[in-house]
Amino acid sequence: MADNRTFTMIKPDAVENGHIGGILDQITASGFRIVAMKLTHMTKRDAETFYAVHNERPFFGELVEFMTRGPIVAAILEKDNAVEDFRTLIGATNPEDAAEGTIRKKYATSIGENAVHGSDSDENAQIEGAFHFAGREMF
Ligand code: PPS
Repeated sequence: MADNRTFTMIKPDAVENGHIGGILDQITASGFRIVAMKLTHMTKRDAETFYAVHNERPFFGELVEFMTRGPIVAAILEKDNAVEDFRTLIGATNPEDAAEGTIRKKYATSIGENAVHGSDSDENAQIEGAFHFAGREMF
């Protein structure tokens, strides 16, 4: 994936609460172009693999259980400086610390159920996008 792309998931809490449309509106209004997108349901093995870097952390089991409890929206987004600008748009991991107007401030309910994921580096954006999408699904 090019350096002007990032990977996101709208997490099960936000899907359950009917926020797909509101979140996608805010993402596109902020200048991101959707170049891949699908509704999908991660298996336990998918989530354990996707979050493997966190497997020693105390909340790992909780994170895997949460991310597999219902469907998510997975998407690849394109914009100059995509990774950094998207992390700014979504706000801090803990919604209590997130800036006003950010997606997590508006839609997240706790540090564990925080509405959206955003890749933390160009390298991880590439890996995470390829985890969810085949080449023919990216535009
Ligand atoms: S980050 O964004 O990677 O810098 O954040 P980090 O704090 O390292 O968290 C990594 C992912 O774990 C989730 N997380 C938690 N889940 C459940 N319970 C607790 N306490 C918790 N703390 C962090 C956090 O939402 C990150 O998931 P992603 O999908 O990367 O946003």
